[in-house]
Order: sequence, then structure tokens, then C-alpha cells
Amino acid sequence: MTQLQPWWSNAVFYQLYPRSFRDSDADGVGDLDGVTAKLDYLSQLGIDAIWLNPVMVSPMADHGYDVADPRDVDPLFGGLDALDRLVEAAHARGIKITMDLVPNHSSSQHPWFEAALAAGPGSDQRARYIFREGRGPGGLHPPNNWVSVFGGPAWTRVVDPDGEPGQWYLHLFDPEQPDLNWDNPEAFEDLEKTLRFWLDRGLDGFRIDVAHGMAKPAGLPDMKNPDLPMLTLEDNDPRFNHDGVHDIHRGIRRVLDDYPHAVTIGEIWVFDNEDFAKYLRPDELHLGFNFRLVRAKFDATAVREAIENSMAAADLAGSPPTWCLSNHDVEREVSRYGAGADGVARARAMALVMLTLPGTVFVYNGEELGLGNVDLPDEALQDPTWERSGHRERGRDGCRVPMPWSGTAPPFGFSESSTTWLPMPVEWAGLTVATQDDDPDSTLWFFRRAIAARRGRGVIGEAVEFLDAPIDAVIIKGADGITCVLNAGSSGLALPPGELVIASTPLLDGKLPPDAAAWVR
Ligand code: NOJ
Repeated sequence: MTQLQPWWSNAVFYQLYPRSFRDSDADGVGDLDGVTAKLDYLSQLGIDAIWLNPVMVSPMADHGYDVADPRDVDPLFGGLDALDRLVEAAHARGIKITMDLVPNHSSSQHPWFEAALAAGPGSDQRARYIFREGRGPGGLHPPNNWVSVFGGPAWTRVVDPDGEPGQWYLHLFDPEQPDLNWDNPEAFEDLEKTLRFWLDRGLDGFRIDVAHGMAKPAGLPDMKNPDLPMLTLEDNDPRFNHDGVHDIHRGIRRVLDDYPHAVTIGEIWVFDNEDFAKYLRPDELHLGFNFRLVRAKFDATAVREAIENSMAAADLAGSPPTWCLSNHDVEREVSRYGAGADGVARARAMALVMLTLPGTVFVYNGEELGLGNVDLPDEALQDPTWERSGHRERGRDGCRVPMPWSGTAPPFGFSESSTTWLPMPVEWAGLTVATQDDDPDSTLWFFRRAIAARRGRGVIGEAVEFLDAPIDAVIIKGADGITCVLNAGSSGLALPPGELVIASTPLLDGKLPPDAAAWVR
């Protein structure tokens, strides 16, 4: 890159799920003072920025993605003062703080929704949400066939103040998350207040939840295929990626341009490159989450295709590509890649691949410890998908289990309380931060070294080149001359000539073992 790039264009972000990072007040749920207490750990990891999952006031039906007051921090997380303390302490260490913003929907306990229920059909209060009459005799059936991403219909019928069944309201997620009506200018006016509130307080930007949602097509036409797995879209899905959403992003950008230090990163579950790129036009979002590596199997062809596709989308958009292997919504990569020692080795290898690539990287808390998904007992499950799917989908709790810090038994230094919001597995005794800190070959030390090596590369070039490689391998050459070799095959692989910079697993007889990656200069 020739000209000075904004800080986010090659940053390493750490996605931090506040419920699960560190509990400072012994209630079994993580909080912001817990994060502040662990900032040295994050400094040592070498990250540039934190993305906090939602911390705003919320009844927590979807763990904060149901916001009842978008301009305050929930007491569960320590309130606004705790956020101020975190921002100040993080900035003192050169770490930026970004947070989730949830504009597609509010909580059903948001004062607007409560007023909408009380005011009744046709009122200005109802016009802030998407209320419709039902279909069929007595309005018995939902207004269309849309399904909730969490299972079941995307509509819930309300009981009117007179006790009679009334209109239906739309919720693409849980019934406690009514969709806002983005045709109503009040939605944007309120969002602008929220954006300015946090930016004036020193926040460094936002991850925008369901950034491909918000706008809905006129007439709310039926879905063609309502029988979809969770978090998936059908082709031309009328629920998402409606063209009108781009005006909303332009509005957000106009506000952000008053705060040039700050970034917006959209959660965009859109896989058509041209459609994806539209969100990243110069007057829309700065960055878009790219889930192509999350979807790719541990397979050389799949990984290469995912990278090529991601680069193509970013090129079209003229914005830096972004990379992640997991987050709070998907099975952790250690488990996806086969669990056990193989899963960890492959996850380390893929982390090195990800850190090779130009652009912005997101590491999800616990990834640096090589944590896998946890098989939780039925009674521990809290994700709304478990109930909504009639106990068919276990949901996302398995990737949200609290971080193990120290000690030999749960709660592993996460909390002073022996009961944590999700139970922690005894098997994590060997994976705690303290244990890994003492072991130079641990996954934690590997991440520290890999992130430092990435930083040591200085300015990261925009293009990568794929070199000829055996069928089970991917060889990527960065613009700075670093070559990353991924061995997804079953036998050792000779490395190209050069100095070994870092390997995800020690070499064996001078060769790169299966399920490993290395950088050569
Ligand atoms: C996407 C978030 O990542 C997910 O956790 C949440 O449940 C939905 N949006 C609804 O806000």
C-alpha cells in the first residue's frame, strides 16, 4: 500500500463475548471490569482492537442482541462507568474499542415497543415496527410465510389492550426482537443519536449486526423456500439484502464521517461478490465481515477458493478484505476441523493462513487457546434457537462457554462463583491461560508469536499470489515476500527454500507435517 491507510485496514481485532471473558463481581457472568482487568493479557497477545458483543441495556433474551436502551450499558456488565473505565484503560495501551450496534430490531421491552402495544393498530407508535393484519378468517394466519432465523414463524400475534387477538408483528429473530420499520424516519433519527452518543464517548467504531437486514421489500412478498437451516438465506431471500438497505448505510456513513477515527464493520451474510461489494462502496460501510473461511472445510481447494473469492469481493469493493475463522454464532473451528489434536493442529494452521493475508483479521476469544465447542447438557442450553426449534437445533451456546484462565477445576479463574452462566468442562484444565503461559509450544504462545510476526511484516501489501502447489497444499506469497505453505494432506511436505519464520507445528525431518502451515522468507 502506498498511501497511509486507516488503522483498521490491517488490524487484528479480538472479538470479545463479554458474558464469557472474565467475571469481576462473582455473579457467574462476565462483565466489563473483568475485561479491563485482563487488558495486559490482550496487550501481550498483540491485538490492535476489541469488538465487544452487545453490552447495552437488555433483558438478554438473545444475550444482548435484544436492546431495550441503546444508549446505556446493562448493569449486568457494570453500567456506563465500567465501559468508560475500559475505554480509558484500553486506549492507554493503544487498544481500540468497538462495539456491537443492533439496528435491525429492538427488544420487546424497548419503550417504543411497549408503547406500540399499548397504542393499538394504526397508531404512530405501531408505525415504528412492522405490524400487519393476519391472513385468513379472523386474521388467524401470519401475514406472510417468513420464518425466523431462530426457527418457527417470523410473526407473533399480539393481544390488544381489550384482550382480543390483534395484529401480528415481524421478528426475523426471536419474538423478543421485533424488527424496526426502517421506512419510518424515526428509526434513523434514533440510530443517529445512538451513533453520536457512543462516538462522543470515545468508542472507536461499531460492528453492525444484521447489516444486510433492516430494509424490507414493499408488500413483504412470501419466501420461496421457508424451510431453511438457521442463519441461512435463500437465493433472493426477501427477508434480507433488500436494496433499500444501502440508503441506511449511506446515512450511517454520513454520521461516521464526522468521526474519522472510527470504523463500521457490517455483518453481511451475503455471498454473491457483487452484492457483498455494494455494502462497501465509498459512502457505505468501511469493512464487511467475510464468512468464506468460516464456511470452508479444511481442504486445500476449499481454502484456496475461499481466499480467492474473498479477495475478489474486496477488490470489487476497493476495501480491505476481512478474515475470521469463527465467532459467537458458529461452531468453533477446532471442532469443525475434526476436534481433538487434529482439530487443534488444523485450527493453528488456518490461523497462520489467515494472518498471512492482507486486510483485517478477527480472532474470537478462546481461539487463541485452541478451545473447541463444548457439548452442553440440555438443561444448560440458553440460546433461543433451542426452544424455538422445538429442541431440534442445539444453538450456539457450545461456542460461548466462558474462558478458562487458571486453576485445575471449573470455573478456572473465570469467576469467584462456582456456578457460571454456562458450565465449563473439566477437560479444559490443560487449556487454561496459566497452563499455556508456561508452555512455549502452547496454542496461546503460537498465537502470540504469529500475531507478532504479522506485525513485524510492517505494511501489508494488497495482493497475494498463489504459487504452484501439490493438490493437498496451498502456497500463498504475500506482497512482502513472505510465503505461507498450508499442508492439508496426509504426508510431510518439503518447504520452498528460504528462512523459516514461523510454523504452526514443529517441522518433522525438515518437512512440514500434515495439518500444519509455515511461513518462509
Ligand atoms: C447476528 C448476531 O451475531 C447473532 O448472535 C444474533 O443472534 C442475531 N444477529 C440477531 O441479532
